[in-house]
Amino acid sequence: MSLAGKHIGVALTGSFCTYEKVFRELKKLVDEGALIQTIFSNAAGSIDSRFGKAEDFIKKAEELTGSKPIMTISEAEPIGPGSLLDVLVLFPCTGNTIAKLANGITDTPVLMAAKAHLRNNKPLVISISTNDALGMNMKNIGLLLNAKNIYFVPFSQDNPEHKPNSMISHTELLIPSLEAALEGRQYQPVIC
Ligand SMILES: Cc1cc2nc3c(=O)[nH]c(=O)nc-3n(C[C@H](O)[C@H](O)[C@H](O)COP(=O)(O)O)c2cc1C
Repeated sequence: MSLAGKHIGVALTGSFCTYEKVFRELKKLVDEGALIQTIFSNAAGSIDSRFGKAEDFIKKAEELTGSKPIMTISEAEPIGPGSLLDVLVLFPCTGNTIAKLANGITDTPVLMAAKAHLRNNKPLVISISTNDALGMNMKNIGLLLNAKNIYFVPFSQDNPEHKPNSMISHTELLIPSLEAALEGRQYQPVIC
């Protein structure tokens, strides 16, 4: 399936070390002709770190996609009633957002977007990046793996020796994962 003309939400949360990969994939999506709306969590939209300044990431997202990022819960809410997106990806998705989503908490623009989008029975894709995937968040990932309309970008341990609970998605598989999700399929193998 081609992504040209598809309305794709890309929701960034606070895994800042992943942003270089995020912007690489965003560029690929734009080049494919997808229509991208970014959404920033409060952390993504405000924390400056050694990986860059929030303001610069927001600017870069707008320049790449041609539309202003959604930065507030009230800006994200219309995604539901307007059925604005064909597919939404949480990319990168922190342990924090995974835990909240699995437990029905909606207190950031990204979680509002996810809730609003899921109410329309449309696919939500998660690209994880968290040091506690095999620890405190394993149960939440398990809940989401088994949830209706939720799909994952395939993921694996990234540094078993030094960060034994850490898992990260293979972001280069974003596009085939989105294509599969739009057809109601989980791209496989999900653990690789
Ligand atoms: C420099 C930096 C890097 C971080 N990297 C990660 C990460 O890779 N994965 C993760 O789950 N949390 C990471 N965090 C923690 C999250 O940013 C924090 O849990 C935040 O509350 C997430 O909020 P959000 O899920 O609403 O974006 C990082 C924090 C900082 C300051």
